[in-house]
Amino acid sequence: MIDVAVVGCGAIGRVVAGALHAGEVPGARLAGVVDPRGAGGLPLLPLDEAIDRAGLVVEAAGQRVLADIGPRVVASGRDLLAVSVGALTDPALLRRLRDAGPGAVHLTTGAVGGLDLLRSAARMAPLDRVRIVTTKRPAALVQPWMDEDEAARLRTAGAPVEAGRGPAREIAAAFPRSANVAAAVALAVGDWDAVEAVMVGDPAADLTSHVITAAGAAGEYRFEIRNRPAPDNPATSEVVPYAVLKAVEDLATRTGGFR
Ligand SMILES: NC(=O)c1ccc[n+]([C@@H]2O[C@H](COP(=O)([O-])OP(=O)(O)OC[C@H]3O[C@@H](n4cnc5c(N)ncnc54)[C@H](O)[C@@H]3O)[C@@H](O)[C@H]2O)c1
Repeated sequence: MIDVAVVGCGAIGRVVAGALHAGEVPGARLAGVVDPRGAGGLPLLPLDEAIDRAGLVVEAAGQRVLADIGPRVVASGRDLLAVSVGALTDPALLRRLRDAGPGAVHLTTGAVGGLDLLRSAARMAPLDRVRIVTTKRPAALVQPWMDEDEAARLRTAGAPVEAGRGPAREIAAAFPRSANVAAAVALAVGDWDAVEAVMVGDPAADLTSHVITAAGAAGEYRFEIRNRPAPDNPATSEVVPYAVLKAVEDLATRTGGFR
């Protein structure tokens, strides 16, 4: 039985911690929750005690928190399951987490799919074209660095409008709340420079969509994902906590979650 500490009890962490506490995840149980804003009735622990009690720490709190606590978690010998994978656009953090140990680092697949096949294809031979096009409501793409004209162009868009296009690392840094998926794709193919990310604002986008295309020696791939936003945080897709729970179950059971 793996004891799991959940750091961050927001839209993602609350569902994850709740399911663990309710005994819904084979092979895993909740050690405690860390969140300065409280845990809504779930057992709350200070960070140090949570790390002490856990075999696996789930980070679901934000990119800065992953950067702050991730290296410490793995240095203490606990495994880490990271949700804020957009933080790994920082090559220094990526190196620290990858090379530190002795705890292992796992990433959730989060809001997107197809990463397993992309990883397999890239392992066979480098993929020469990978693109992820993310489409969401235009207001969700307005960024503090945009000038007033650019922000207004998005806010008043009556039709789909492109808000950004470039290498995954650049676009992930420019649109941090949409960084996780572009980072997840770049990490799966193992090459930040091979992945182009495009951000589109569409006033008719009730669902958040990600279209991932890739081509290389292994073949040609196209994955289209259309996720319903989480009810209490439209920046997060409702499915993400279930991707985390699946990853916990995969780690906690001898069959890797196969039922
Ligand atoms: N991998 C993916 O596909 C994917 C998808 C969606 C969101 N995310 C990322 O997951 C993270 C969580 O998303 P969310 O929608 O649950 O966010 P949220 O804002 O709903 O919840 C974050 C929670 O973390 C808590 N928190 C803040 N600082 C903390 C600290 N130092 N220690 C402990 N808790 C702290 C906050 O109080 C809040 O309750 C974000 O970084 C988001 O970008 C990843």
